[in-house]
Amino acid sequence: MHARIAVMASGHGSNLRALIDYLDALRDERPGEIVLVVSDRADAGALAVARGAGIAAESIAGGHHDAGRIEALLAAHEVDLVVLAGYLRLLPPAVVRARHGRVVNVHPALLPAFGGQGMYGMHVHRAVLAAGVRVSGVTVHFVDERFDCGPIIAQWPVPVFDDDTPEALAERVLRVEHHLLPRVVSALARGDVRLGDDGRARGVLRTGAAEASFALLQLPDEPLARTLDAAIAR
Ligand code: GRF
Repeated sequence: MHARIAVMASGHGSNLRALIDYLDALRDERPGEIVLVVSDRADAGALAVARGAGIAAESIAGGHHDAGRIEALLAAHEVDLVVLAGYLRLLPPAVVRARHGRVVNVHPALLPAFGGQGMYGMHVHRAVLAAGVRVSGVTVHFVDERFDCGPIIAQWPVPVFDDDTPEALAERVLRVEHHLLPRVVSALARGDVRLGDDGRARGVLRTGAAEASFALLQLPDEPLARTLDAAIAR
């Protein structure tokens, strides 16, 4: 099945850019295409990224009262997979319910830690540094009706260094997001990953790696591993 993907974003759109580039690089092997980008901010960089890539770009305020408009837009573009990539609003519950198991989010920390309402962007990285943890990371999860609480699909660790500023940690985490999110979205689009009847993420990632539990994604031969080696070696 060739998945029709919508990306919802409030910010610069670097995750959107990474997903566009990843799918383009797969050429005829790509399991889906981005057909729509939606933002709650008319001036979001993500909308400019979409327009530059020839992808339909729409801005909707994004409140719960906009559930009908959001769903109508997704339906009009025959979207079957929604990716929240730095979308700062809570998706209206009616939309989440209608698309159960077909909406995912990327979060710049290892949920359930450092997640939930108000935990976005630099707030996350400041909290991570204040907590003194030695490892942060990236989480991709199915979206439910609360912030950052849905079933976890994949996580990847990111080292925290003693001299880290929130900005330095954010950049290291964002680089890992750019590797992890596209691979998980592709696995979902191929049907290799799904939300199981037990409410947990189920499936494997076919990247040449051995079957990987989605509690911790193993991508030994991927650039991400080299990125982490470089980060850890720093
Ligand atoms: C990322 O850090 C993401 O984890 C968070 O918001 C940021 C989006 O960045 N949810 P961008 O707009 O994709 O550059």
